[in-house]
Amino acid sequence: MDNRPIGVFDSGLGGLTVLREIIDEVPNENILFFGDTARFPYGPRQLSEVRRFAISIANFLYNQNVKLLVVACNTATASALPDIRAKFDIPVIGVVEPGARSAVAATFNKRIGVIATEGTVESKAYDNAIKNIDEKIKLFSVASPLLVEYVEEGILEGNLLSKTICDYLKPLFKKNIDVLILGCTHFPLIEGNIKDCCDGGIKVINSAIETSRDVKNTLAELNIENDGEEKPQRVFYETGNVSKFFSVGRMFLGEKIKEVIKVDLEILV
Ligand code: DGL
Repeated sequence: MDNRPIGVFDSGLGGLTVLREIIDEVPNENILFFGDTARFPYGPRQLSEVRRFAISIANFLYNQNVKLLVVACNTATASALPDIRAKFDIPVIGVVEPGARSAVAATFNKRIGVIATEGTVESKAYDNAIKNIDEKIKLFSVASPLLVEYVEEGILEGNLLSKTICDYLKPLFKKNIDVLILGCTHFPLIEGNIKDCCDGGIKVINSAIETSRDVKNTLAELNIENDGEEKPQRVFYETGNVSKFFSVGRMFLGEKIKEVIKVDLEILV
């Protein structure tokens, strides 16, 4: 048993969709969540810059004595997961490999699509993760940055959103995919709209679910679960606009955020 918290981080608020699943899967765990909202979005940045940001946040959380880290951002996972794993002596779980694993298990025709940020697409992280499991699978990727912006602004419905989703998905439909990975932690918030556009013919994969199972299994394997004797604490850190974190964060997490601690970028090294 180990009552230290789990650290979870994202470029912004999208990682709260992963946190939601983690809370459902391991409700007794204490959590520290970090959203780097001042430097959001990571998607259009150079991978080397995202790597630097991700390592500095991992370092911040490590120094808060977390027992396990979840990189709840596809772009940060794609650019920094091996470096974070090499640098810190605690288990580190990303979102790409669990999503790839679910997609491979779901496809019949071995043709998978992914929508993600420019950075994630450029990194080829999903291509590599899928090839590692099954070389015969073909992956088709589309960078969908506008969808990240809509979700971060709280635009979760409407004709413009639906049209934008369908425009991004059209090239993937032409490739005859039978599985679509939501390769960005913001997209589970518009999963219903994405499914509507897919018209039932394509299985949509939300990697947050598989990621949270990995968290549960890792805690159990290492015997570092919380003993569950006290009410779990959830602490939220962010670098940007705290008031937005409360309002939009509630929408992402599905529950009220009581306190947010602002972190000065200068202390992140
Ligand atoms: N959370 C990021 C991801 O999953 C998307 C937002 C961003 O561009 O920072 O890739």
